[in-house]
Amino acid sequence: MTTLVIVGAQWGDEGKGKIVDRLAEEADAVVRFGGGANAGHTLVVGGEKVVFHLVPSGALHARPRCVLGPGMVIDPKVLVKELAEMRARGLLSEGRVLVSERAHLVTEAHFLVDGLREQGPNAIGTTKRGIGPTYQDRAARRGLRVADLAHPDLLREKVAGLVEAWRPSVEALGGEPPSAIQVADAVLACADEILPFVGDTTDALHRMREDGQRILLEGAQGTMLDLDHGTYPFVTSSSVTAGGACTGSGLGPTHIDRVLGISKAYTTRVGDGPFPTEMHGADGEALRQAGGEFGATTGRPRRCGWLDLPVLRHAARVNGLSELAFTKLDVLSGMDTLKLCVAYELDGRRIEHPPSVGLERVTPVFEELPGWTEDVTAGRSVEELPANARAYVERVEQLAGIPASILSVGPDRAETIERLDPWR
Ligand code: IMP
Repeated sequence: MTTLVIVGAQWGDEGKGKIVDRLAEEADAVVRFGGGANAGHTLVVGGEKVVFHLVPSGALHARPRCVLGPGMVIDPKVLVKELAEMRARGLLSEGRVLVSERAHLVTEAHFLVDGLREQGPNAIGTTKRGIGPTYQDRAARRGLRVADLAHPDLLREKVAGLVEAWRPSVEALGGEPPSAIQVADAVLACADEILPFVGDTTDALHRMREDGQRILLEGAQGTMLDLDHGTYPFVTSSSVTAGGACTGSGLGPTHIDRVLGISKAYTTRVGDGPFPTEMHGADGEALRQAGGEFGATTGRPRRCGWLDLPVLRHAARVNGLSELAFTKLDVLSGMDTLKLCVAYELDGRRIEHPPSVGLERVTPVFEELPGWTEDVTAGRSVEELPANARAYVERVEQLAGIPASILSVGPDRAETIERLDPWR
């Protein structure tokens, strides 16, 4: 067992950072394969909170190599900051971080376009980190790649081209096109810090795999934000599902041994778009406060709701999930009754999976389960959990059709129940 993929099974923010961090202890490489600084991994280590946006969550362990794969869009300023954070903690030895030459670079021009769009009628509630426009440039084959950092003249030419390409959009959105010189200067100012870590990550990963080393592929966002399989157009602009782990890392599907999906014990989403089990008013607010549900990247309050089994079944299918990690079970402590959305009704029909179109029109079908009042954070085995918490987890496993191999019962690394080792 050498290669494990971890993906979000909902709308992101499922607590992947903590699970990846824990499994990274036994990994030789942790790889980000998509997205960029729209993600935010909050780690709590010894009571201290650390947030990373680009480097993988394994960064705080001494052992694994941290790989930023070809599928990523990298904001050079954020990367420089995170490398400095790792250096300050004595965790940045040579070869520790490897950045793909093929990954794309996010510039001020992309930030500008993302921000302007979000002020207009087609806003979808992005993180305004320039992610969508950068992936657009990638698909238009005019994008800046990390490899270009080593060729300043070429990079300046490319920046001039993309600033011109965006000019009509920027003007139509009421903005001022940026100076190509300033955009290129800002990128090149980061080059010396980043270039020592740049290389062919695909080759490095294959060599590691051939050597029997353990590779952990860390997804960002979640299945329902996937460009193809999510709630389009209220999605991010990359493939965040397990297929994206292959295209975004350069490993092939037959190289993946297991896929672990992360789900909270309830549901959250940031940004606009359909959310069938959303709780409005005081109930939603109570869950938001109990779970500390505010975005790690933007600080936005997250929308909160009950657990949605059609979403989990969809995630199990499109990612080929072998198992679940079920997080934030502790947040549900103290609720009298818990609701589980077991199916939807759409146009008078009961359906078990999210429809390809029309999710905003479904009515959730709920099943109620009794809650528990006990604190679950000290539990280190399923047997130590209150009977109602155990019953809740068992019902979810049954309805989702996959086992929960990990239960997270609190924010700290230690507050975890590991029923099955995903590296088994
Ligand atoms: P973008 O990725 O910034 O373009 O945003 C597109 C959608 O994805 C918006 O609804 C964002 O709120 C959402 N999104 C992007 N990254 C994350 C994440 O890491 N967690 C949760 N939502 C995210």
